[in-house]
Amino acid sequence: MRDVNIDWANLGFSYIKTDLRYLSHWRDGEWDAGQLTEDNTLHIAEGSTALHYGQQCFEGLKAYRAADGSINLFRPDRNAARMRMSCERLLMPFPSEETFIDACRQVVKANEHFVPPYGSGGSLYLRPFVIGVGDNIGVRSAPEFIFSVFCVPVGPYFKGGLTPHNFVVSEFDRAAPNGTGAAKVGGNYAASLLPGAQAKAGDASGRHFADAIYLDPATHTKIEEVGAANFFAITKDGQTFVTPKSPSILPSITKYSLLWLAEHRLGLKVEEGDVRMDELDRFSEAGACGTAAVITPIGGIQYGDTFHVFHSETEVGPVTRRLYEELTGIQYGTVAAPEGWLV
Ligand code: COI
Repeated sequence: MRDVNIDWANLGFSYIKTDLRYLSHWRDGEWDAGQLTEDNTLHIAEGSTALHYGQQCFEGLKAYRAADGSINLFRPDRNAARMRMSCERLLMPFPSEETFIDACRQVVKANEHFVPPYGSGGSLYLRPFVIGVGDNIGVRSAPEFIFSVFCVPVGPYFKGGLTPHNFVVSEFDRAAPNGTGAAKVGGNYAASLLPGAQAKAGDASGRHFADAIYLDPATHTKIEEVGAANFFAITKDGQTFVTPKSPSILPSITKYSLLWLAEHRLGLKVEEGDVRMDELDRFSEAGACGTAAVITPIGGIQYGDTFHVFHSETEVGPVTRRLYEELTGIQYGTVAAPEGWLV
């Protein structure tokens, strides 16, 4: 394998330029053949709708190196389906599931030497995106589009990986009740920048937080999301995996994978329903989950003047640990994968 001079054991979640990325244009009603390019910049029109009206969406998925040196992509068909949905919501053309997966495969192959070694805990994060480009000024869908996929070797999103972090409930919403919360569009993430920065800066008590928690935008009584990740909790008897259900939550592929694993591999009951702020005592463990966050245990949640601790601020709960081992075992090829989960 070519040496790329990266300290694999200490990778964080930061941009590292890799060799090649996939680039395709949509013009006159169709996508071109697409190709790999060394250029990591885009030359786009000043009136591009992606720049003014947020007409863009993106995905996040990872490639994992297994012990035998082979490389697994985790459920890319699910990312393709979600990107199709995001494109439809923002009136953009989607390239097709085959093109999406083929572009991901090409990018991983072309940057194989950037896939962290087995055992390092790292992975190659793929960032597919579709943006509206071309000359335009009115609030309308763009005349042209770009589909691109680039990749970056990454380590843990939240420092320390499987270690508990504290979060604070924000007074801001990341999405509207019937807005674009379920689509993976940049505007949702732009809306989370200020609350995220406030969380990290900390509160009057001097406590600092890993990120903000968002409540449901209609009533502000139930948990919806944790920063750029989904939320789950385990009931006090250790028997039920609970995760919120709402039209303004991003449908996390990790979350749906955990729902399946909790039921079929851990023998738990699973529930997609309300996680009310006044019922947090129902739970003994809680966590954030997502492609970037993997599973990050939630130590405590600050809500106004109250600080609610789940399992512990320093120790990982037993069910959270089992879910983590099952999920990452599948991704790195040490635990049998359900049919169709690995490419
Ligand atoms: C992911 O988990 O892939 C995400 O989208 C989070 C990202 C915005 C850092």
